[in-house]
Amino acid sequence: MGKVEVINHPLIQHKLTIIRDKSTGTKDFREVVNEIARLLAYEVSREMPLEDVEIETPLVKSVQKQLAGKKVVIVPILRAGLGMVDGMLDLIPAAKVGHVGMYRDHETMEPVEYFIKMPSDLAERQMLVVDPMLATGGSAVAAIDAIKKRGASNIKFVCLVAAPEGVKVLREAHPDVDIITASLDERLNEKGYILPGLGDAGDRLYGTM
Ligand code: PRP
Ligand code: URA
Repeated sequence: MGKVEVINHPLIQHKLTIIRDKSTGTKDFREVVNEIARLLAYEVSREMPLEDVEIETPLVKSVQKQLAGKKVVIVPILRAGLGMVDGMLDLIPAAKVGHVGMYRDHETMEPVEYFIKMPSDLAERQMLVVDPMLATGGSAVAAIDAIKKRGASNIKFVCLVAAPEGVKVLREAHPDVDIITASLDERLNEKGYILPGLGDAGDRLYGTM
């Protein structure tokens, strides 16, 4: 069973408060989302495997460590997931980026896929699916369905704010997927928005309210 990890580092909590605040404008919202994504990338990379490598320091030959193992693919769920990509690439600059376009129908709350473009050989890779919000879980489940259909198997889902309802749905649909979130919030409202949440992440990132 994949794990659910809430990264409640003080810096992350402080930055989350900034983006939850409705008076935070688009520019600051975008910057702080990327800052949190950078901190989450640091936590997510904690488990990356290492291998020995022999090098020469200016003084002696020495066996040291370097990253080994699977190549990383960051998979933002469009639109809002795009807001986390640059922050994650700051720490994992060699990662490839695959895109999944998914929007939530406002009436039915069901996800609708409209775009997908992935690198090759997904089975070989560590996939980091990123989206600021895990609400009903529909978008995350559909995005992970789509990349599994294309061969991905080693998948982590990284978000900023998760609702307990979405965590349950995602864990039931994809029990192998680790969920890493900066916050586990209280609940969803009747329109499927996370409470206390931060509102519509895509609209706040791109100023489309
Ligand atoms: C938001 C968010 C997630 C989804 C979460 O996207 O970025 O993708 O809702 O909701 P769910 O867990 O109930 O599926 P939205 O549909 O608003 O599209 P956008 O990113 O283009 O604004
Ligand atoms: N999507 C968002 O952007 N915000 C929510 O609270 C729920 C879904």
